[in-house]
Formats: sequence, structure tokens, C-alpha cells
Amino acid sequence: MIPSAVYRELQLLPSLLSADFARLGEQIDAVMDAGARMIHVDVMDGHFVPNITVGPPVLRSLSPRVRERGGLCSVHLMIERPEDYLVDFVQAGADALSVHVEACPHLYHSVAAIRALGAGAGVAVNPGTDLAGVREVADIVDYVLVMTVNPGFGGQKLIAAALEKVTVLRQILPEGVAIEVDGGVHRGNIRQVVEAGANWLVAGSAVFGAEDPAAEVRVLRGLMAGSAPVW
Ligand code: DX5
Ligand code: ZN
Repeated sequence: MIPSAVYRELQLLPSLLSADFARLGEQIDAVMDAGARMIHVDVMDGHFVPNITVGPPVLRSLSPRVRERGGLCSVHLMIERPEDYLVDFVQAGADALSVHVEACPHLYHSVAAIRALGAGAGVAVNPGTDLAGVREVADIVDYVLVMTVNPGFGGQKLIAAALEKVTVLRQILPEGVAIEVDGGVHRGNIRQVVEAGANWLVAGSAVFGAEDPAAEVRVLRGLMAGSAPVW
């Protein structure tokens, strides 16, 4: 169970998608020692998005390491029929789980199912999708994940129009619901993303593509702390 205060905190979530998969544990230690508390795990199935990543077994290996250090695993499901896998991911150590609006014909049910399993429940929305689906679940979500790139790959450029959704969401969502922004966040735009109203910021290539991922975490967290949040 994620303490409710965490949904109000500014958090930098390094995304393992851009990490060195032969050294995942070591890289997690490095970014957590540098102050990251939440680790973002991208799950892709080659159907919902044109890429394939990891499933519950990898999470099962990593989550104890994250938890031992007082951290949390936030799992972003970019898969078809995510409702079939919720139990597996929670059992493997997902503290928070997000499902895509576009992948859930029964969205309210899927979000409620995540909550019933005791995990933080998130709903994710692609750049090309409007907020109608999110509005339907606004009263039961713990966080909304706004994709600012088309999901599937790290290292893409942030789509500015997608970021505009964050400002709208801050007005729609009840207080205490986190807004996570995922895609194209780096030291050059991170303040702008926080100032748009986001408080959980995912950074994949910015962190793990840097020569020193730990140093980059410190830089990004410093920039976040120095910005003027609007919520
Ligand atoms: C993309 C993933 C992201 C990805 C972001 O589909 O959902 O979490 O790791 O990578 P960057 O930060 O490089 O855009
Ligand atoms: Zn992601």
C-alpha cells in the first residue's frame, strides 16, 4: 500500500526501459542512492505497442531490492487485456499499476480491481486520446499517467500538445491524485513539466542514457525542487 502522501509528492521515476538490462540491480541501487524513491517499470507486449519488454518474473527479482531501500515499483502496463495480469504483477511486487484507457473496454472495473488488490491504481492515456475515459474514473484513481510520447520506445521527443492535458487534469481530478508524465522529460524541460501540474516525472533516457545516471538523478531532482508547482 502506497502512503497517500506519496501521491502529493514530487517524485522522479527513473524508467528502467533505458537501463542496462545486464546490470539492472546495480543501476537501481545507483539511482536510489541518488534520491529516487520510485522506479518506473515499462511492460510491453508487442501488440498494444510495437515493442516487447519484461513481465512479472523480472519484476519479482527487482521489487525486493527496491523495497529494501524504502522504494516503490510503479508498473506501466502497455499491454492488451491488462486485467488478465493484474494479480500476477501485484504478486510480483507492483506497488502501483497503471492500465491504458485505450486497452480497457471496462476501465472502471479494471481500475477498481487494482485497488482491490491493494496497489495504487493508475490510468494511462496516449497523446492521441482525449480525457473522456479518465473523467469516468476520476473518483477512483490514485494517479493519471499522461503519455507525452507515443508509447513503445524511450528517447523520443516530448509532444507539447500532450502536456496541455496536465493542466486540464489538475482541474478535473480530486485533490491528492498524482499526475505522472511519461516521455521525453529531460533537464531542459523538467521544470516546465512540473509547472504544468505534473508531480510524478518519469525519465528514462535522460537518466540511463547519461554518463552518470546517479548524477543525472540529482540534477533532475534539483530542478524539480526549484520549480514552482501549481497544485
Ligand atoms: C515509453 C515508456 C517510457 C519510457 C520513457 O513507452 O512508457 O516510460 O521509458 O523514456 P524517455 O524518458 O526516454 O522518453
Ligand atoms: Zn512508461
